[in-house]
Amino acid sequence: MSFRSANIATTAPYLIAALLSAAFVLTILGRPYVLAAPQARRPQAAAKNNDQATLIARGKYIVDGVAGCGYCHTPRDQDGNPVHSRWLEGGPVFYEPARPLQGWANTVPRLAGLPPGSDAELIKLLTTSVARTGKPPRWPMPRFYMTRSDAEAVVAYLKSIDVKH
Ligand code: HEC
Repeated sequence: MSFRSANIATTAPYLIAALLSAAFVLTILGRPYVLAAPQARRPQAAAKNNDQATLIARGKYIVDGVAGCGYCHTPRDQDGNPVHSRWLEGGPVFYEPARPLQGWANTVPRLAGLPPGSDAELIKLLTTSVARTGKPPRWPMPRFYMTRSDAEAVVAYLKSIDVKH
C-alpha cells in the first residue's frame, strides 16, 4: 500500500461523513428558505389586489356617489328614469337647455368598461377639463378639476366595469 492510497483510505470515511453532515445541515437549514420564498411573495400579490380594489371602490364612490356621472352618461327610459341595466353606457343627452345654446352636445359617450381615450387623456380631462380636442368638452359635461389621485381612481373604476352590451 502506497502512502497516497493509505492516506485516501484513512481520510475517505471522514470526508464522506463531512459531506453527509453538510448535506444534512443544508437540507434542514435550507428548507425554511425554500418554503418561505413562495409564501413571502403571496402577501405582496394580495396587497396589490387589495390596493386595486380600494382604488376601484374609491372611484365608484366618486362616480356614483359624488360627481353623478351616471346622471348624464346612462340612457333614460320613457319616464326619464336612468336604465340601471345600462349604467354608464352612454346615449342621447336626455335634456335640452331652456334657450338654444351653441355647442350643446346631443350624445354622451360610453364610460362603462371602455371610456373614450387613453388613461392620460381621461386623467387630463378630469383634472383640467381639457378634452381630447384640446378644448373643454361641450355642455352639459361639467368642468371637473379633480386631484390626480381621484382621477386615477375614477379611471380605474370605469375600466373595471364589465362590458355587457
Ligand atoms: C351633466 C351631464 C354630464 C355629467 C354629470 C357628466 N358628463 Fe361626461 N359628458 C357629458 C357630455 C354631454 C359629453 C359630450 C361632450 C362633447 O361631446 O364634447 C361628455 C363627455 C365625456 C367624456 C368624453 C370626453 C372626450 O374627450 O371626448 C368623458 C371621458 C366623460 N364625459 C366623463 C365623465 C365623467 C367621468 C363624469 C363624472 C365624473 C362625467 N363625465 C359627468 C355630460 C356629462
